Amino acid sequence: MIYMDNAATTMHKPQEVIDAVVSAMSSMGNAGRGANEASLSASRVIYDTREKLARLFGAEDARRIAFTNNSTESLNIAIKGLLNPGDHVITTMLEHNSVLRPLYEMEKKGVRLTIVPSDEKGRIDIGEIEKAIAPDTRMIICTNGSNLTGNYVDIKSIGELADKHHILFVVDASQTAGVFPIHVQDMKIDVLCFTGHKGLLGPQGTGGIYVRDGLEIRPLKTGGSGIQTYSKTHPAQMPTALEAGTLNGHGIAGLHAALEYLERTGIDKIRACEQKLMWRFYHGVKDIPGVKIYGDFTGQDRCAIVTLNIGDYDSSEVSDELLTEYGISTRPGGHCAPLMHEALGTVEQGAVRFSFSHYNTEEEVDIAIKAIRELAEEP
Ligand code: ALA
Repeated sequence: MIYMDNAATTMHKPQEVIDAVVSAMSSMGNAGRGANEASLSASRVIYDTREKLARLFGAEDARRIAFTNNSTESLNIAIKGLLNPGDHVITTMLEHNSVLRPLYEMEKKGVRLTIVPSDEKGRIDIGEIEKAIAPDTRMIICTNGSNLTGNYVDIKSIGELADKHHILFVVDASQTAGVFPIHVQDMKIDVLCFTGHKGLLGPQGTGGIYVRDGLEIRPLKTGGSGIQTYSKTHPAQMPTALEAGTLNGHGIAGLHAALEYLERTGIDKIRACEQKLMWRFYHGVKDIPGVKIYGDFTGQDRCAIVTLNIGDYDSSEVSDELLTEYGISTRPGGHCAPLMHEALGTVEQGAVRFSFSHYNTEEEVDIAIKAIRELAEEP
């Protein structure tokens, strides 16, 4: 199979990630729950993974990073734990349902929501965000990269805007963590939500949330913490404040190995490789009659995603043919990004998304180009 659905999850993981999970499965105890060697070794791996994530994201202190299951959980914590009735929040049409649905829930509880529009290329105008700012605006929340078009969002400029107006800035880094440089302090990010199983190359069920020093978030869940057992309330200090119950230690061991791999390889090298493949595919398909490509391909900085349609063909049918005839995995349909599809005019048809990893090869890309050419020529 030629796997080109890396925006959904990176399927090819470094061998050391697999080895680390397998080894943890037979040796890891429960972190922070005992003084036996198995428990201590779990604590050490988890501590070291936090340190690595803090270094990767430019966090002031590793304790500001809590582990979660994925970006969705982190975004729910940020949105439901920071917003109150009467607050105003600004987001964009680029967002995934993991941002939109919690926001719609909060809207029902009295939060005012502004969704900044995108143009037909999936671009937002930061000036529109600034225009939407009002005295009651508490938060700007947006993605760092669209999971549908691959457009990169200039979060540094939005962070500066939020900082200037003393508004919280929450970033969904689902598509960029581990691929693009993210520095939470330089970019004025108050809360960063990320998943471990995409660009970070770790196992599914790993992820996290960075919370800026001094900012307190109401937790979604409370419970066992391994500390302050006789207190009726969950500990307030980070990271324990947002980590109730046993962590996914086996997964975090894999994420630890993945971060070592990223440090050794270099995310700039990985991004350059993915982008080279993306541009090769884009240039190979863009002039094929009947092919329509979505997104902004004028700049160099974009996620390694090319999303397209062939004529009026339903995107699921095209994706099925790609799989059955050519062995190529893509993602069709709505991609959990309903407003982005509205902006692109693809609500009915959906779109076929190709998303690349540095494990893909030029030969695979050329097979995919040939497949699109043949499908577009079919009567
Ligand atoms: N959010 C993931 C995607 O875009 C699952 O496919």
